[in-house]
Amino acid sequence: MAATLIARAIRARPEAVIGLATGSTPTRCYGELVRLHREEGLSFAGVRTFNLDEYLGLPGDHGQGYRRFMQEQLFERIDIRPWNTHVLDGMARDTGAECAAFEHRIAAVGGVDLWLLGIGANGHIAFNEPGSAADSRTRVVDLSAETIAANSDGRFFKDPAEVPRQALTAGIATIRAARRIVLLATGAGKRAALRTAVEGPSTESCPASLLQGHPDCLFLADREAWGA
Ligand code: GLP
Repeated sequence: MAATLIARAIRARPEAVIGLATGSTPTRCYGELVRLHREEGLSFAGVRTFNLDEYLGLPGDHGQGYRRFMQEQLFERIDIRPWNTHVLDGMARDTGAECAAFEHRIAAVGGVDLWLLGIGANGHIAFNEPGSAADSRTRVVDLSAETIAANSDGRFFKDPAEVPRQALTAGIATIRAARRIVLLATGAGKRAALRTAVEGPSTESCPASLLQGHPDCLFLADREAWGA
């Protein structure tokens, strides 16, 4: 469904600006976008993309870097123009300038039409950990012990010691500025975070709950994540 929504946005506006996420959750969506490209003529030739986040200190071609993830999962398998894909540079010497440039590029293309998100088991979105401010913008953040553990369970990093302690991330306000938000949640491990985000108060202790009140925000969850 997420891929269908993204495809619809691109067909409505071939120069669509799409926000993307990494992690296990969106990989099937990217597989379906590749299929739509190969079998149903969906073209990304005019599309611009912005990724949520990147580890600090990992070169773009590092095995666990998010630039490489996007190249392998999506960008190298469709007809998107490389210069239209924007992933924060984890090796930037001036991280402040890198974050400011990212915000500037989003503004320069008129904002994001649709931003695809995942959710962390602690309610984080992108790398906005609990406590992130609702008005936060792209910046350097410290990763929580929980996020470091979640990303070193063997799916990505093999050992917590390998996981960078900091990351560059789009802020809550950066994400909320997207005209449409589609958040994906799969598996029972996301159930508590999802319930809190949707049914709890809008609070910085659950960053995904700060999406409440957005005019066009859709949460797509499987049965395990929703608990129904
Ligand atoms: C990671 C990413 C997030 C992602 C989340 C969930 O740390 N920075 O953007 O949405 O955690 O990841 P997964 O889909 O692998 O559960």
